[in-house]
Amino acid sequence: MAPNLFILGATGRTGRHLVELALARSFRVTAFVRSPHKLARSDAALAVVQGDPLQADQLARALPGHDAVLSVLGPTPREAIRPHRLLAECAASTVAAMESAGPKRLVVLSAALLFPDQGLRFAVGRWLLRNHVEDLEEMEAVVQATAFDWTIARPPRLVEAPEEAYRSAAGALPPGRFSMSFRAVARFMLDCAEQATFSREVVGLRGPSR
Ligand SMILES: NC(=O)c1ccc[n+]([C@@H]2O[C@H](COP(=O)([O-])OP(=O)(O)OC[C@H]3O[C@@H](n4cnc5c(N)ncnc54)[C@H](OP(=O)(O)O)[C@@H]3O)[C@@H](O)[C@H]2O)c1
Repeated sequence: MAPNLFILGATGRTGRHLVELALARSFRVTAFVRSPHKLARSDAALAVVQGDPLQADQLARALPGHDAVLSVLGPTPREAIRPHRLLAECAASTVAAMESAGPKRLVVLSAALLFPDQGLRFAVGRWLLRNHVEDLEEMEAVVQATAFDWTIARPPRLVEAPEEAYRSAAGALPPGRFSMSFRAVARFMLDCAEQATFSREVVGLRGPSR
């Protein structure tokens, strides 16, 4: 039977591709969102549940019956440059809910900025987004401290493009272009959830080499 996926951040730029590609692959999907009106599509295989990903009890009520949790949450650009703990706190609530009620497969979206020594562009990005980088590092630590079957995806800058191909490497960022598509990241996360690859690995992503 097709996996039953629980998606956090389904109304975002990566999230919309994740939902679209998952439904196209005949997965069953629950989109756990704070603003259901933003998810302007209906499908027999799509359940939309309104809730707050910071609240473990709300997540725990919605999680039973799913095979994997995919999280593509992210702060707004304005929030991202200020001190925040959105992703760390959502990771903590998600982990708590999964421990009590959910599946043990967790695929989360982080960022390639966390790979050290990637040159000047990355160093500048790390400095500009230092508050977000701190949140991402804390989120990754929360996920890695679990006994779950987790995968952390670290892509570079993301852009809207139809490209679905990607290259992936455990523990390293493949060489290549500075940007890749939201859609390719979504495809990677679905492949991971379906094929149970990269278990307990941090994975660097890039678009295809030209
Ligand atoms: N964008 C990039 O270039 C890029 C590059 C590398 C890594 N990443 C990582 O990818 C992640 C997702 O990026 P994205 O660009 O797809 O994000 P996005 O388009 O900004 O979407 C963020 C999602 O998170 C939800 N969200 C934000 N704040 C929330 C809150 N307080 N409570 C509940 N839900 C909340 C949003 O819900 P609403 O729709 O209700 O606001 C939306 O579904 C980020 O964490 C980022 O670190 C992004």
